[in-house]
Amino acid sequence: MSTNFDQIINRRDTGSSKWQQYGDDVLPLWVADMDFKSPEPVLSALHQRIDHGVFGYGSDPAELTAVVCERMARRYGWQIEPESVVYLPGLVCGINTVCRATGQPGNRVLVQTPVYPPFLTAPGHHQQELATAPLVLKTNGRTIEYRIDFDAFEAAIQPGTSLFILCNPHNPIGRGFTRDELCRMAEICLRHNVTICSDEIHSDLLLNGTRHIPLASLSPEIEQQTITLIAPSKTYNIPGLGCSIAIVPNPKLRAQLTRAMDGIVPHVNILGYVAALAAYTEGDAWLAELLEYLTANRDFVVNTISEQMPSIRTTVPQATYLAWLDCRDSGIPGNPHRFFLEQAKVALNDGRHFGQPGKGFVRLNFGCPRATLEEALQKMQSALAQL
Ligand SMILES: Cc1ncc(COP(=O)(O)O)c(C=O)c1O
Repeated sequence: MSTNFDQIINRRDTGSSKWQQYGDDVLPLWVADMDFKSPEPVLSALHQRIDHGVFGYGSDPAELTAVVCERMARRYGWQIEPESVVYLPGLVCGINTVCRATGQPGNRVLVQTPVYPPFLTAPGHHQQELATAPLVLKTNGRTIEYRIDFDAFEAAIQPGTSLFILCNPHNPIGRGFTRDELCRMAEICLRHNVTICSDEIHSDLLLNGTRHIPLASLSPEIEQQTITLIAPSKTYNIPGLGCSIAIVPNPKLRAQLTRAMDGIVPHVNILGYVAALAAYTEGDAWLAELLEYLTANRDFVVNTISEQMPSIRTTVPQATYLAWLDCRDSGIPGNPHRFFLEQAKVALNDGRHFGQPGKGFVRLNFGCPRATLEEALQKMQSALAQL
């Protein structure tokens, strides 16, 4: 491996939200960014742009748009036209703008819980109601997995449901949906005239050769009813540079989206464009190594938890660098997030923020050097042993 992902980089006092939220004695394995340097080609492209020294307003980069179109065709056989591409300074901004663009106050927005917290809050920001179709938890010995209850999914769509926000691959359950699952969800949405917003930000973070299927690539009809959101941010560890992409092949839907953005959503930072282009054009070799490292970290988390913390059950993520831990049978008194923060000095995400089914769960980010992960798991195990 030419990249040294074992390198520990001190991120304290760098304005990092992950490393500044808690005290200096706490190891942060919560918010979804990684503790690795971005790929060398990204760093060098940024250096070059900085050296130019002039940072005036940018314009939408045609070269990046062409790269995005080529990438969708090469990876997924999904042909998109350049005019379908709309740039956004962040994906959460995208989710909120899509709610505003596709519905009125009083409309309902469907999500599958447990899910990335901004999915739960976005509808309310636009005076829309949240509807949930919980994913169904299945226990498999020491591990857990989730499936879709399609009857409950369809039943959650009521008159006035304007939008379904899909997370694929799904945060926090760490899996990509199968072609059959995607087809069934899309077919239900089309039958009820519900627009789909497919958040595919984690689609490059596939472990063990898992494959990703963009929902919109399934058929022309589904494509016309879908806004797909992607970004290089998670994959190449550049979320602080804020460059995200909406792919909206339907011109009417695209006009609705750009109208909702007008005057509110700022342009993407010029450095964000530079980093995105370098990442997408020159980041593949780094990404292949990253996925190998993350897969080994994933296996380490799953094995350590199964062997040394048997009262906790974990997902075996097929995508993302996020493990979702079921602590409900662990004997931890009260909230497991607080327990691990106070007793182990390890900061994880509180499962309650992912919707009601997240109570008793925590999310662990394994996008870090192995030594950090080892230390965190060791501290968690010691805290549990004190119970
Ligand atoms: C599913 C999902 N969507 C969006 C985001 C955040 O996107 P952004 O930082 O571009 O707003 C995250 C970050 O963890 C995420 O997991």
